[in-house]
Amino acid sequence: MENVELGRLARRAAKILVEARGRALVFTGAGVSTESGIPDFRGPSGLWRRIPPEVFSIEYFLSNPGEVWRLYAELHRVLAEARPNPAHRAIARLEEMGLVEAVITQNIDGLHQAAGGRRVLELHGSGREAVCLACGARLGIEEAIRLGQEMGWPPRCPRCGGLLKPDAVFFGEPLPRGVLEEALRLARRARAVLVVGSSLQVYPAALVPEEAARHGARLITVNLEPTPLDWRAELVVRERAGRFLPLVVEEAEKLLA
Ligand code: APR
Repeated sequence: MENVELGRLARRAAKILVEARGRALVFTGAGVSTESGIPDFRGPSGLWRRIPPEVFSIEYFLSNPGEVWRLYAELHRVLAEARPNPAHRAIARLEEMGLVEAVITQNIDGLHQAAGGRRVLELHGSGREAVCLACGARLGIEEAIRLGQEMGWPPRCPRCGGLLKPDAVFFGEPLPRGVLEEALRLARRARAVLVVGSSLQVYPAALVPEEAARHGARLITVNLEPTPLDWRAELVVRERAGRFLPLVVEEAEKLLA
């Protein structure tokens, strides 16, 4: 998209965020991290085009823990090397400016926090830890991967010998207690929601922007492909988040100057 049009859209987006008077939310998916080198899931080069999503279901994990752990360890290497991109930084800046109340993310890469995000709700857990399914012990994901590399896959709990699992939410697992409820509470009172880099295909996460829109929040979607909520959005931006969001910050700073 050429600059003049993009500038116009950025000005409109900034205006919606400023008019939300501090009650705007950002809702993100894997698309906000692709410019950090982390593949998304359903985009043209998404992960689910190479790996069947069932592999990351809890049922498949429990019957093939070694195979899933080896795969997870490989994917984790990409996460560990990834750094925040201009989209993460712009979102953190909007929070710092008092325009965004919280970031609600489906991502487990921790890049919103790494960019300076203060209030980040991780609906699908995080890739930071592993948890023992027998005794509940938690350890750093790097430590769990090292155990797997040294003692064989899957890694076992150093405390009780039970099966360790990456703490991210697998398909078929409940979301971390309280996070979805808090996200929906914020959504119901939000005046604006900026959806960035999500195909909005996965529930219950996708309920969050829907609930906000149902309660009258103004919606902006920034996504390279159409989303099921575009029809309700005041603004639909088919542009890379890393290119568009810094322009929104620039325009918001002008409005607040
Ligand atoms: N800028 C804007 N949009 C982008 C960019 C980008 N740089 N890169 C990719 N996208 C868009 C893609 O077009 C796609 O529509 O981001 C969207 C990402 O959608 P998905 O890959 O489905 O990721 P997400 O919505 O986060 O998936 C939700 O599904 O697989 C599970 O648990 C996993 O959290 C994940 C959940």
